[in-house]
Amino acid sequence: MKITISIITIGLVLSSSACHRPQTRAIENRFGKIADKAMVVSAHPLATQAGLDVLKNGGNAIDAAVAVHFALAVVLPAAGNIGGGGFLVYRSHEGSYHTLDYREKAPLSSKRDMYLDEAGEADAGKSRLGHLASGVPGSVDGMVAAHQKFGSKPWGELLRPAILLAENGFPLTRNEAHGLDHAQHTLGKVNTILPKNMMNQEWQEGDSIFYPDLAVTLERIAKEGRSGFYEGETARLIVEEMQRGQGLISFEDLRNYRSVWREPVQFQYKNHKISAMGPPSSGGIALAQLLMMTETFPVRKWGIDHVNTIHILAEAEKLVYADRAKYLGDADFVEVPQQELLHKQYNLKRAENISLKKAAAADEVVAGNLRVEQEETTHFSIVDAMGNAVSSTTTLNGGYGSHVVVAGAGFLLNNEMDDFSAKPGSPNMFGLLGGEANAIVPGKRMLSSMTPTIVEKEGKLFMVVGTPGGSTIITSVFQAIINVIDFDLSMQAAVDFKRFHHQWRPDILYFEEGRINPELETKLKNRGHHLEKRQAIGRVDAILVLPDGRLEGAADPRGDDTALGY
Ligand code: DON
Repeated sequence: MKITISIITIGLVLSSSACHRPQTRAIENRFGKIADKAMVVSAHPLATQAGLDVLKNGGNAIDAAVAVHFALAVVLPAAGNIGGGGFLVYRSHEGSYHTLDYREKAPLSSKRDMYLDEAGEADAGKSRLGHLASGVPGSVDGMVAAHQKFGSKPWGELLRPAILLAENGFPLTRNEAHGLDHAQHTLGKVNTILPKNMMNQEWQEGDSIFYPDLAVTLERIAKEGRSGFYEGETARLIVEEMQRGQGLISFEDLRNYRSVWREPVQFQYKNHKISAMGPPSSGGIALAQLLMMTETFPVRKWGIDHVNTIHILAEAEKLVYADRAKYLGDADFVEVPQQELLHKQYNLKRAENISLKKAAAADEVVAGNLRVEQEETTHFSIVDAMGNAVSSTTTLNGGYGSHVVVAGAGFLLNNEMDDFSAKPGSPNMFGLLGGEANAIVPGKRMLSSMTPTIVEKEGKLFMVVGTPGGSTIITSVFQAIINVIDFDLSMQAAVDFKRFHHQWRPDILYFEEGRINPELETKLKNRGHHLEKRQAIGRVDAILVLPDGRLEGAADPRGDDTALGY
């Protein structure tokens, strides 16, 4: 008997006796927010509300995405942004796909070895904090491009909620108060002109915070569109900020920045069609490789908690992250063997090397041989009443990015330059390795792990999914998808379910408390895995289309994430 989950059985507990697949424990298959027509799931209740209001007023998913993006830039300054970049995957209700790359670029005066110290070692301080860490921001151009192509409501109207939040202030959540407190010291260190509205006190949950300079910047963007950011007053304030802190972003960098519509990475997994981001994100290719390898093992039969399942998925993750480190980078600058990496045979061959009995040591895992001549981010998922869907992940890279606030303009700049490989073999802040393919070149985009994804089943929209989490983004999206497709969890249960992560190097199988019980831990250790418990992995915000057409919005309980629909 296959578990059938009726949408009315909210809170249903699946016990091991209720199904033929081995469930080693009862899983609370709770459902998320259920709505008839439209849904927004984002990292902050006020941003989700801004998106829902747009949808209720007749805006489409792209209109709502613009409103949510700018609202997050105000209410979630650790990750939401106008000084960062991201990726967006769009599926129209007719089934056409469009993927938008508004990833930051290396400034024109950047240099390959710009983060190496006198001894030739990578200086993480320089690539992670302060003015030199920032790439040329892409978010504003990205939102403009998305709106021009698919938006239906007036641009200025969509920025209004963000402007009002910045102008009138809003209460901090506990997480955000904690984050701001934590950032005080670094904000004070990297800024010569202190962002007083963000500083000078111990922040508490419920305190009001105001962003008056940001409100004025947003007004300029609302009035002038892209030139309200990349030219004129905002550009002048960015360049002056760079000059105060020996940063590199110039007027020319800003003027030249353009987001790019790219071909989606598309592949089949069982009877699902999956669409995700291609380079300069590694997300789509890596997700495809993981799912292709997984398909060759009977994980469904084994069950979600079986030692074989966790072992096989971790082994596949090692192989895929080894390929990522060697082959992936900005395809506008280096040749990325995308077709080969996405080839089923290649991945099946790689999977053949996985031993069910023993974990491969990281040293034994090397990238495949191909013929060939790179923690705060935020994700939101939206479905509108017509069935258009947006999956968008955007970031400043680390929490509060470079911590540089553009004086007079009131927004934080990213530290995305750390996603480049400063030196082959030197890990970035997520421990990821990279090589030639992800070396710094002026104008090049740094490799990303962001994986906004849309899944289709039998020609119809099925799932909208994505997450923050640096290097763990890919494996979190991967697990959310198989938790639904292979293990029959509701979207909310799939999101709630504790995660694990392997990225080849370091040779550690990380897991969240509650994912791997002591018995499983022993079994995995016996197969050669090195296990380590760590804090929350990812914050997945997803939407599932239920069999009757209703929508299940799943907000990750690990953060302030909120799902609202109507
Ligand atoms: O693009 C990337 O892969 C990283 N800059 C993402 C950073 C991130 O997710 C931080 N998050 N929690």
